[in-house]
Amino acid sequence: MRVTVRSFAKINLGLRIGTLRPDGYHELRTVYQTIALHDLLRVQVTRGSGIEIRCNDPRVPTNESNTCYRIIERAMAVLKARGHVVIEIEKRLPVQGGLGGASANAISALLALEHGFKKELPGPEKLRIAAEVGSDLPLFLVGGTVLGAGHGEEVYPLSDLPPTPCVVATPEIGISTPKAFADWDGLCGEPGSAREGPGLDRTDAKLTASAPSDRMLMFGRSVAAWLSGLSQRKTKSGQALSGVPVSRGRGRAETPLLDLVRTGIENDFEQVVFPQYPELRDVKRVLKRAGAAYASLSGSGSAIFGLFGTRAVAQQAAVRLRKAGVAAVATTTLTRPQYWKGIFDC
Ligand code: C5P
Repeated sequence: MRVTVRSFAKINLGLRIGTLRPDGYHELRTVYQTIALHDLLRVQVTRGSGIEIRCNDPRVPTNESNTCYRIIERAMAVLKARGHVVIEIEKRLPVQGGLGGASANAISALLALEHGFKKELPGPEKLRIAAEVGSDLPLFLVGGTVLGAGHGEEVYPLSDLPPTPCVVATPEIGISTPKAFADWDGLCGEPGSAREGPGLDRTDAKLTASAPSDRMLMFGRSVAAWLSGLSQRKTKSGQALSGVPVSRGRGRAETPLLDLVRTGIENDFEQVVFPQYPELRDVKRVLKRAGAAYASLSGSGSAIFGLFGTRAVAQQAAVRLRKAGVAAVATTTLTRPQYWKGIFDC
């Protein structure tokens, strides 16, 4: 059997880092959002045994450390399936880019394998093996707009952000996520201490006094407030609104995008990554000046994204970045139904 699937990327709409836990992970709250940028995967099972990874990008490991290898090894054991599995990855997403490329590849490989064998792992088992392979994998078993908790592996489907024009800039900088977490710890004082992150000291005096757990709680509240706005709008109009801010006489004219901006959710990694790579801060500035309602580092970077009111403005922003020598593409966010339809529709 041979199955071809898309492997979509994600961005993080805000990311809050909490305390370092005894298991070596950091407590995390984030809103993941799947987007239309993707890699392509071809999964083939022939006679024999073993797992073979092929990739057009030499930076991608093709040994047992590859996330696809690790999840397929586990899935074959649980499914009690036999065969020689060949996974070809056509890499289009950046490596170590903060877009979840390797994690998405693993989930798409798993879905392709299930499709090929016409057998499905039970949902909880799938989530368990996904989380074993990496914190960023389970979100790709949900898709759309997803709340991430725990160390990022606890995932909850949220009310979808309507398809929103988006620009993703991918500077040629690879950032190690474990190192970014370690840098955050360095900035916060001793690992696990209750001291605050540095940028918050500068930007919000009230937050300075709060413990990491309070900051996580506030993140949750902001997201909940944003979502309740989204679902109210859905109930009123039958479907959520998207697009440019519109003023409608009586005053309450927010779009979901504007509501998101108002929550003030940010990505804590910016505070350790931007000082090391000031050019990334500049990319964010360009996106904002080009009309982004919301712009942020994705994950630990180095991808930076901006959300826009219209496709035309997003495309102009991408052109502006490319003229400045930064790789950038205009794309769109994907709702959950679009995500699932797009995986096998190729
Ligand atoms: O789960 P994943 O393999 O993506 O994590 C890689 C590393 O990143 C972990 O070993 C840990 O050092 C760090 N990490 C963390 N806190 C998280 C997620 C990852 O410290 N929430």
